[in-house]
Amino acid sequence: MVVTISVKPMFSIAVVTLSLLLTVLLLLPSSPSSQIPFSSTPQLGKLDIWSVRRMVEWRPCNWWLQRHVTALPAKSNGYIRVDCYGGLNQMRRDLCDGVGVARLLNATLVLPKFEVAAYWNESSGFTDVFDVDYFIQQLSGFIKVAKELPPEIASKEPFHVDCSKRKGQFDYIESVLPSLLENHYISITPAMSQRRDRYPQYAKAALCQACYNALRLTRSLERKASELLEAIPKPFLSLHLRFEPDMVAYSQCEYPSLSPASLKAIEAARGDRKPWTGELAQIWRKRGKCPLTPNETAFILQALSIPANTNIYLAAGDGLMEIEGLTSFYGNVVTKSSLLSGEDFKSMHGNTKAALDYYVSINSDSYVATYFGNMDKMVSAMRAFKGLYKTLFLSRRAFAEFISKGLSGKELTQALWEAHRDDFVMGRGSALPDCFCEYKL
Ligand SMILES: *[C@@H]1O[C@H](CO)[C@@H](O)[C@H](O)[C@H]1NC(C)=O
Ligand SMILES: *[C@@H]1O[C@H](CO)[C@@H](O)[C@H](O)[C@H]1NC(C)=O
Ligand SMILES: *[C@@H]1O[C@H](CO)[C@@H](O)[C@H](O)[C@H]1NC(C)=O
Repeated sequence: MVVTISVKPMFSIAVVTLSLLLTVLLLLPSSPSSQIPFSSTPQLGKLDIWSVRRMVEWRPCNWWLQRHVTALPAKSNGYIRVDCYGGLNQMRRDLCDGVGVARLLNATLVLPKFEVAAYWNESSGFTDVFDVDYFIQQLSGFIKVAKELPPEIASKEPFHVDCSKRKGQFDYIESVLPSLLENHYISITPAMSQRRDRYPQYAKAALCQACYNALRLTRSLERKASELLEAIPKPFLSLHLRFEPDMVAYSQCEYPSLSPASLKAIEAARGDRKPWTGELAQIWRKRGKCPLTPNETAFILQALSIPANTNIYLAAGDGLMEIEGLTSFYGNVVTKSSLLSGEDFKSMHGNTKAALDYYVSINSDSYVATYFGNMDKMVSAMRAFKGLYKTLFLSRRAFAEFISKGLSGKELTQALWEAHRDDFVMGRGSALPDCFCEYKL
C-alpha cells in the first residue's frame, strides 16, 4: 500500500508532464531546427506541493449535511450549559462535544459559557465572538436551544458536572443523565476521552452541525476580519507558526543556536519544566515533540517548492521569536498588526484576535501549520467543509528523524518533500473523522 502511495502521484505527474510535452511538440512547427524544451521541463521536485495529484479527500458526510435526522423527542430531560475553557479553538472543540452530549441526553441546550483563561486576561464570551441567532437557527431540528431560561431556573446557577478528568469507558447516559433529571439544569465540561463512536447518529449529527455549520462570527467581527482578508495580497498562504517562549518552554526542548534574547525569554517561561538533555533530548526530539523554528519552517517550505515570493499571512500571536529565520527567505510576509490600524486592536482581546486568524485561515488559498493544535484541526476541517484542500501540517517528527539520520542539503530536501507529499496525497490530518467521510479521488 505504502509503495503504491509513494509511486502513483509521481507517476501521474510524469504522465501529465509527458502529455503536456506531446501537446507542445504537436503544436510546434515541424521544422528540424525547433528545439524541444527539455531544459524547461519541470523537474519533479520543482513542482510545488499543491500541484501533486491527491488520491483521498475528506468531505462532510451526507448523513448530517442532508439533515435526515431523528425527530427531537417531545419532552426535554432538562437544560444543559456547556462550559468551555482555554483558548478560542479549545473552547470551540469543547462546545462541539458538549452539543453532542446534550443531544445524547435529550436536553435543551443553553447558550454556552466561554470562560476566559487567565492567559487571555479578558472577557470575550461566546456572544462576543459568535452570532447567536445564526447558531440557534442552524441547529433547528438537530437540538433544542434556549436563548432565555424559564424563570423558575433562570435564578439559580446550574449544577456543575465535571467530566473533563474522566477517562476510558465514560458513559454520559449512565453518569450524567441522573444529575440532569435530578437538577433540571446542569453545566458540563466535556471529557477529553469520550466515546463518540457509540453515540447514536442523531447526537453525532448535532455535534457536526454545531461545530461546522452553525458558528459564524458576529457581524462586527466578521466585518473586521473580511477587511483584513481584503488587505492581504493574493493569492496567499496562511502560515500558522508557533514559536513563542511559553510554548517552547513547555515543549522541554533545547535550542542551543537561538539568539541570546530568545534563550532568555524561554528561560523566563520555563518554571519547573526543565529541558531534556543528552540522549533523552534526542529521543524526545525524534518523537516529534519539538516545535519547528521559523528557520526550520522556511527550510521545509522550500523543500515543498513553495516559492520565495509567495505572499504569506502569518497567523500568529505576538511574541513569535526568531522570525527573521522565516522572513530572510520569504520576504512577503504580512500579519494582522501590519495590515490593521492600532485603533482596530484597542477593543480587541485574545479571543477576537484569534478569531481574525481563524477567519483568514479558512479563506486563504493555502494553509500550512507547524503544529497540530486545536486551531489547526478546526481550520483544516473548516477548509475541507468549504472544499479547500491546500492544507498541510509540517511534520516535526519527519524533520527530526531525517536530521538525526544525518541527512542534509539535497537529500534532506528530497526526503522532506516525499514525507509531506504522501501526507498531502492521502489528505492526512485534513479533517476530523467524526463528521467527515473519506472519498477516493
Ligand atoms: C432521546 O430521544 C431519542 C429520540 O430522539 C430516544 O430514542 C432516546 O431513547 C432518548 N434518550 C434519552 C436518554 O432520553
Ligand atoms: C490584565 O487586565 C488587568 C485589568 O484590566 C490589567 O491591569 C493587567 O495589566 C492585565 N494583564 C496583562 C498581562 O495584560
Ligand atoms: C537557517 O539558518 C542557517 C544557519 O543559520 C542558514 O544557513 C540558512 O540559510 C537559514 N535558512 C533559511 C531558510 O533562512
